[in-house]
Amino acid sequence: MREADARLVVGNWKMNLTQAEARHLAAAVATALRAQSANAEVALCPAFPLLGVVREALRGTNVLLGAQDLFWEEHGAFTGKVSGAMLRDAGCEYCIVGHSECRGRFGRSSYDPQTLGFFSDTDETVRRKFAAALQAGLRPILCVGETAEERAQGMADEVVEAQVNGVLLGLREDASRCAVAYEPVWAIGTGDVCDPDEAERMAALIRDVLERRRLQSARVLYGGSVTPDNAPALFAKPGIQGALVGGASLKVEQFLNIVKAA
Ligand code: PGA
Repeated sequence: MREADARLVVGNWKMNLTQAEARHLAAAVATALRAQSANAEVALCPAFPLLGVVREALRGTNVLLGAQDLFWEEHGAFTGKVSGAMLRDAGCEYCIVGHSECRGRFGRSSYDPQTLGFFSDTDETVRRKFAAALQAGLRPILCVGETAEERAQGMADEVVEAQVNGVLLGLREDASRCAVAYEPVWAIGTGDVCDPDEAERMAALIRDVLERRRLQSARVLYGGSVTPDNAPALFAKPGIQGALVGGASLKVEQFLNIVKAA
C-alpha cells in the first residue's frame, strides 16, 4: 500500500498528562496496535515536556511522534519558543500548525474576549510556522476551519479556502508531505461532530486547493469531536483520509477503536 493510501490518525493530547501517564498511554497504544496490525498510520502529539518519555515508549514501534506547535526561527533569543530543528532532534516526524486553539478561536470557551489575544496565531504566523516545519524536515499538519458564526453567515468555504491559500501561496518549500485537517471550530471539544457529508464536501474543497498547488499526495483529515461511534461514517467518505483526534485520544480504548475504524 502506498503511504498516501493509508489513513493517518493523529492523537492531539493538548495540555494534558503527567510523564507517567503519557508513558503509560503511549505504550498501551503502541502495544495494542502491534497486535492489531492496523494499516493506518498513527501519530501521537504530546505537550513539549512529554516528548522525551513518549519517544522512549514508542521506540521500535510503528507509532510516530508529533508536536503541537513550533516557532519559525531556528534558534536564538526567543524565550519560551521551540524550533522545528529542536522538534526533529526530539524525534518528531509531525507537527500540528495553526490549531484553532493557538489562533484564539474556540468553539465553546470560558475565555473572555480580552484574553483571547494570548492565543496569538494569525494566517501570517501560521504560514511562517508551516514553512519552518518543512524546512526542518517535519511533516506539518495544517489545521483550518470556520467558527459557528462564520458558518451561520455562509462564509465557511471562503474562510477555509483563505486559510489554506494563505499558507500555500508563495511557499517555496516542497509541501507534498503535509496534511491538512479540516477542523470546524464549533466541533472541537463540543461533541457536535460535523455531518459526514458536509465534512466530505469541505474536504473536497481543500483537496481542490491542494491540487491547484500540485499537492496531490497531501492527505486531508477531519478533526472535531471524533469518537469511535462517529468515526466509521466519517471514514466511509473517500475524501477523508484520516482524523485529528483530541479528547478521545486520551482514552486508550477509544483511540484504538478510531484507528480500527480507519
Ligand atoms: P476534539 O479535538 O477531538 O477533542 O474535538 C480535536 C482537535 O482539537 O484537534
